[in-house]
Amino acid sequence: MTDHRILVTSLIPEPGPSILREYGDVTFCDEPIDADALRTAVTDGSHGVVLAQLSDRFDADLLSRATLAGISNYAVGFDNIDVDAAQRHGIIVGNTPGVLTDSTADITVLLMLATARRAVEADRVVRTGGFQGWQPNLMLGTDVSGRTLGLAGFGRIAKATARRALGFGMTVLFCPRPPSDRDVADHELGDLVGRVTHVDWPTLVRESDFLSLHVPLTDDTRHLVDADVLAAMRDDAILINTARGPVVDETALVEALRGGVIAAAGLDVFEREPELAPGLADLPNTVLLPHVGSATVSVRSEMARLSALNAVAIARGEEPPHRVV
Ligand code: GLV
Ligand code: GLV
Repeated sequence: MTDHRILVTSLIPEPGPSILREYGDVTFCDEPIDADALRTAVTDGSHGVVLAQLSDRFDADLLSRATLAGISNYAVGFDNIDVDAAQRHGIIVGNTPGVLTDSTADITVLLMLATARRAVEADRVVRTGGFQGWQPNLMLGTDVSGRTLGLAGFGRIAKATARRALGFGMTVLFCPRPPSDRDVADHELGDLVGRVTHVDWPTLVRESDFLSLHVPLTDDTRHLVDADVLAAMRDDAILINTARGPVVDETALVEALRGGVIAAAGLDVFEREPELAPGLADLPNTVLLPHVGSATVSVRSEMARLSALNAVAIARGEEPPHRVV
């Protein structure tokens, strides 16, 4: 079997390009590729492997026509790829787990602090001349320490967030597979045994001061947080989403934030990225980030390394280091 040519759909940081150049048979796109060009490149036999971004969509139809050995996703998540279809067609999928856990947990805490303490609003007050000196009632927020964090999901990022929250003196609840449940054994809890509490989804929704989402996007989690869930949350609760936008019904969220159904939201992901639901950007009780959970120089470089190693391994017909299916 001859080695495959690799298509790299967006510029990625070093050492990705060096690893790929050393392999040799690579096409680098200088600008992000559009859906039509992607379709041509993966169906005309010119490329056997794609080093893809979350914005490159591989649905069942495209995968049924694709002449691909595999897709190396430059992300830990892979909801841009219909992995069941990929598996059916013998197309390998790789991802970049582990390396972005801490940076995404950091962004989760940043959004909790920024929403609770109104950091973005406060910054604007200073920049627009609204800071006239210390005042007893200026920009009062809510406490983080002593409050309850509810984690929807209990993977690596949720656990890393739990450790940070415990450091802030928070009570940590978790529901591992909302909206249903699953058992979590002590060995899975590891160092968190006795420090975090497993509850069901309705309890998590009802009791969290901060409800933070750490689930993959699947048919079960699409609109997990809808108008009913928002209504069941405390009216002083804050919603944090660093997972995937469509886990939240963003239109219902705008209504809830407007109507005081919940207090605030900190979002790093959006339902129809890069578009925002109408009205979201006008709400002062939101902190909105452009999907930067993994955006540190060192993390993006590690993601580049892992995704390049996955791509080269697939291209050579070897087992990739991080394989999803
Ligand atoms: C980012 O969202 C990722 O899945 O890596
Ligand atoms: C993501 O990779 C997670 O396990 O939370």
